[in-house]
Amino acid sequence: MNATDTPIGLVEPPELPGAGVVLVPLRPEHIEPLASMIAEPSVVRWWSDPPTWIQRRLIEPDAEALGFAILALPDRTVVGYIQAWENADPEFRHAGLDLYLGTAHQGKGRGPEAIRSACRWLIEARGHHRITIDPALDNARAIRAYEKVGFRRVGVLREYQLHGDGRWHDGLLMDLLAGELNAG
Ligand SMILES: CC(C)(COP(=O)(O)OP(=O)(O)OC[C@H]1O[C@@H](n2cnc3c(N)ncnc32)[C@H](O)[C@@H]1OP(=O)(O)O)[C@@H](O)C(=O)NCCC(=O)NCCS
Repeated sequence: MNATDTPIGLVEPPELPGAGVVLVPLRPEHIEPLASMIAEPSVVRWWSDPPTWIQRRLIEPDAEALGFAILALPDRTVVGYIQAWENADPEFRHAGLDLYLGTAHQGKGRGPEAIRSACRWLIEARGHHRITIDPALDNARAIRAYEKVGFRRVGVLREYQLHGDGRWHDGLLMDLLAGELNAG
C-alpha cells in the first residue's frame, strides 16, 4: 500500500512551511481563536458554519478531510484555518481546499501563501495532479486570491451553496493542475 492510499484524514498530519505562514495540524489551543474568527461578519458571509463547527472538526475527524491552523510567521499567531479534502476514486482522484482568515489577517497575501503551501503538499506528498476550490461567484477577493496562486475558472455552479441568508448562491468551480502552481 502506498502512503497516498491512506485516506487524507487518517494520515499523520505534517507541519507545512510557507513563505509568511506555516500550516500546523489543528490542536485544542487553536479552537478558541478560530471559532471567534468564524463568527466575524467578513467570514460568516462566506463560511456559514457556526463557531462550534471548528470544535467538531477536532473532536470528530473526517477520513476525507484534514484541517490545519494557519499561523503567521515569525510569531506563529493563529490567523486562519485551511482544510484539504480528497476524492479518492481512482478514476476521478483529486483534492480540494477550503479556507478562511480572520478579518484582521485578510488582505495581506496570507491566503495565497497558505494555499501554495497546501497545494505543494497535495501535489508532492499526496500525488495529486489536480486541485479544486469553489468560492461563491460574488466572492471577488477570494477568486482573485486563488487566481494569484494559479487556479483557473472552470464554470459557474448554479445555486450551489446555502448561505446564512437562507438563499442558494452560485459558486465558481476553479481548478489548478500540478504544473500550474505559481510560486508567488
Ligand atoms: C478569501 C481569502 C482566503 C483571501 O486571502 P487574503 O490573504 O485575504 O488575500 P490577498 O491578501 O492575497 O488579497 C486578495 C486579492 O484580492 C484583491 N481584492 C480585495 N478585495 C477585492 C474585491 N472586492 N474585488 C476584487 N479583488 C479584490 C486584493 O487586491 C488582492 O489582489 P492583489 O494582491 O492583486 O492586490 C481571505 O480574504 C478570507 O479568508 N476571507 C474571508 C472568508 C472567505 O472568503 N473564505 C473563502 C471562502 S471560498
